[in-house]
Amino acid sequence: MLEYLKLKNVGPAPELEMRFGPRLNLITGDNGLGKSFLLDVAWWALTRRWPQEVNASLTSGFAARPTNRREQATIDYRVTGKDGKRLDRSSRYQPREEAWSLPPGRPHSPGLVLYAHADGGFSVWDPARNYWRTRAGADPHDHVPAYVFSPSEVWNGLDMHVGGRPTRVCNGLLSDWAAWLRERGVEAEWVRAVLGALAGPDDAIEPGPMVRLSINDARDIPSLNMPYADAVPILYASSGVRRVAALAYMLIWSFREHGIAAAQLGEEPTKQVVLLVDGVESHLHPRWQRSIIDSLLAVADRLHAGASTQLLTATHSPLVLASAEPRFDAEQDAWFDIDLERDGSGMAPRLRHRTFVRQGTASNWLTSEAFDLKQPRSRQAEAAIEAAKALLMQTEVPLDQARGVDADLRRACLPDTEPFMGRWACFLEELEARSA
Ligand SMILES: Nc1ncnc2c1ncn2[C@@H]1O[C@H](COP(=O)(O)OP(=O)(O)OP(=O)(O)O)[C@@H](O)[C@H]1O
Ligand SMILES: [Mg+2]
Repeated sequence: MLEYLKLKNVGPAPELEMRFGPRLNLITGDNGLGKSFLLDVAWWALTRRWPQEVNASLTSGFAARPTNRREQATIDYRVTGKDGKRLDRSSRYQPREEAWSLPPGRPHSPGLVLYAHADGGFSVWDPARNYWRTRAGADPHDHVPAYVFSPSEVWNGLDMHVGGRPTRVCNGLLSDWAAWLRERGVEAEWVRAVLGALAGPDDAIEPGPMVRLSINDARDIPSLNMPYADAVPILYASSGVRRVAALAYMLIWSFREHGIAAAQLGEEPTKQVVLLVDGVESHLHPRWQRSIIDSLLAVADRLHAGASTQLLTATHSPLVLASAEPRFDAEQDAWFDIDLERDGSGMAPRLRHRTFVRQGTASNWLTSEAFDLKQPRSRQAEAAIEAAKALLMQTEVPLDQARGVDADLRRACLPDTEPFMGRWACFLEELEARSA
């Protein structure tokens, strides 16, 4: 589990400090203020590897670079290992090596770490397979540092060099999913259960029969039975369904492979799981956005019975925040918000650990500190309402001016059911009567 992170002179903000909760951690902030970057750093602190270093085909997850080359850049963090031991590290950027200093070896294991990247790629760090011990005072080179998948490798399989040899380390969703369903073993049950849980209680998605895409394509492609059609080839499924299917697959794959490796080593499976999910709502319909946090935690609980799960997730969705309200507990959970603020030399992102005040509706979240909108409406409607409110404050209002603002309100398509429009209609009626 990641407990603490402090960055200086690296990333979009001059300085950043986060104390994570042991369970749910939500990160909000405008585009480009560093949410994904923070998840990359969290992954590095937990695994000592940058995703892009492990898999060069990735177009994100690059090693962090200092902002000002003339000043020292540092990353401090605290990780709690599976044995409950805390490990504090302070790493400095070494410009000549273009690397972050760390003592060799891995003296702790953070548990199973799964990172769902924003673009559909995944990174997995497995304590049974990626943990290593120092040899002769240095990190060995023949171990697999982590499993880092580009979006297409999640579906088609991942090859890596292991001990100098090209090795297929994961068969990919298409192949594994087909094999699991044919075998009708426990994995087939997991596919059903995890898919069902991630799709949420209102949408039934079930694995369907194997299908062929063309007469020349020999692959048996898994299909899905959807509410609107049966046997939809999984490669034809929508972006939202593919996101859910890929999440389900990576959760099952990492859990299954960890279990097999732990058994081979004669060890107990890990009791700690860390999920990093970037853009947890991406491609999901509001109904799914509303249940995705609960679903992810429920799936992790189901796959890793008795293990504790820490979830760090970046979101732009007011519904995700609203959906967290019933479970949010400041003892276990945290909400971090990044805003662009003026500092001495100009504007810079600033991260705050905010108090999670329940807003009740997604609409209220839009106008909260999380998203900072003045109004949860179109820009035109917001401007028209602001102008109308300004008129309401005036003592003398020329009828022409009021009619102009009324036309703007109508043009902005504000419906008569909008509460402000009732007040405005009374005001205009009185003004018309007075001027008649
Ligand atoms: N490897 C890196 N080293 C240093 N700074 C980086 C690195 N990667 C990203 N950044 C900084 O982070 C900024 C981008 O932040 P990031 O992609 O995390 O935004 P975000 O909050 O996730 O935005 P969005 O909501 O659009 O996904 C860049 O402008 C850059 O300043
Ligand atoms: Mg991002």
